[in-house]
Amino acid sequence: MENHKKKRTGPVIFSQYKRGDAIKKLLSMSREDVLFELKDSKLKGRGGAGFPTSTKWMLTAAAKADRKFLVCNADEGEPGTFKDRVLLIEFPELVFDGMVVGGYTVGAQLGIVYLRGEYEYLLKPLEDYLAEMRKDNLLGKNILGKEGFDFDIEIFLGSGAYVCGEETALIESLEGHRGEPRNRPPYPINTGFLGRPTSVNNVETLAAVTHIVIKGGKWFSEFGTSQSSGSKLFSVSGDCEKPGVYELPWGTKVSELLKIVEAKNTKAVQIGGASGHCIPKSQFGRALAYEDIPTGGSIMIFDESRDMLHVLKNFMEFFLDESCGQCTPCRIGNHKLLEGVEMIERNEYTFAHINKLKDLGRTMQVASKCGLGQSSPNPFISILENFKDEIFTRGNGGRNGK
Ligand SMILES: Cc1cc2nc3c(=O)[nH]c(=O)nc-3n(C[C@H](O)[C@H](O)[C@H](O)COP(=O)(O)O)c2cc1C
Ligand code: SF4
Repeated sequence: MENHKKKRTGPVIFSQYKRGDAIKKLLSMSREDVLFELKDSKLKGRGGAGFPTSTKWMLTAAAKADRKFLVCNADEGEPGTFKDRVLLIEFPELVFDGMVVGGYTVGAQLGIVYLRGEYEYLLKPLEDYLAEMRKDNLLGKNILGKEGFDFDIEIFLGSGAYVCGEETALIESLEGHRGEPRNRPPYPINTGFLGRPTSVNNVETLAAVTHIVIKGGKWFSEFGTSQSSGSKLFSVSGDCEKPGVYELPWGTKVSELLKIVEAKNTKAVQIGGASGHCIPKSQFGRALAYEDIPTGGSIMIFDESRDMLHVLKNFMEFFLDESCGQCTPCRIGNHKLLEGVEMIERNEYTFAHINKLKDLGRTMQVASKCGLGQSSPNPFISILENFKDEIFTRGNGGRNGK
């Protein structure tokens, strides 16, 4: 891992940390102490849905079972997202120590990293790193000499399906089945991997936990806003001079971020990946925060040279490819939305039909079984609404101009 390390500092996630320190601190903390700090931190899961981590761990800890599991969701399949990869390569100590904290808190003895199939090249260095942790007794039996503190970590390689990032599809895949989302409830915190209570946490969430154990929940909550505490990693790509992974406090305005990454002539910013929302210049004053524009961290920048219909088509083709096909709104709906985009492309549409497709999109948002189909209409609706002047003046304004 040492070769990959860059000197990088940041206020929260990228701040200094030494491997094992959070695990040592656990020796003097009870499970309740950890839950108290997490509650104080107001940390919300960084995988996209923003569920409070303290609540998830408290519920998993309270569930009765012979075995429990902690899963680190490193599937990172959302287009435009690469911050978890950076954490795993450059800061594995934050992620793995956070998993040990999680195992201790929920009462799991096994942690599993579900690693994105395309990150196969990380498998060997990460396994070597885990072997070093075992040598230092930071994993294994009686960790750091504490009787009964047993926890180990295994890595499971995914096969490249976006839907397997959804926690119940991920669990199906871990069990050796097709990666298809389950009905919820029951939730993984009660019935997860092998039918046992399982907490599924994003890579960045676990990294944040490590710092919270060391510096306290109050320290963490002083960054960000009252409803979005701490800082966030953003994967920035597209039309800018300085793409990359940035740590910024929640509440940062889109315009501020564009300045930091030196984006010029920006026409649109897609926030939250393909399943997120696309905003025009008039909305660049909005804030990246749960209370304004929530995001798992993907920021794609498009300048004036980009064709927004082409951008939209690209996203819809992605969803059509990635839908698992299990439920009708998503399986058929994405197909219909893509057809609509192609009709606009050929200038063979009517506004009545496009409005019907937007209604279909709103139905998919409520009727689809999992987050993929619930969010895939977002770019269709937001790009057609926010960029209508560009998109609907491409040809003659529609076949019949209606
Ligand atoms: C289609 C789809 C893909 C997802 N992909 C990921 C992913 O790659 N990584 C991730 O952490 N969460 C992903 N999620 C969210 C997970 O289901 C889950 O909410 C998350 O792992 C919980 O971790 P957190 O509480 O730390 O945010 C995805 C959800 C959906 C619907
Ligand atoms: S919404 Fe899409 S991805 Fe999710 S279960 Fe239904 S068909 Fe599968």
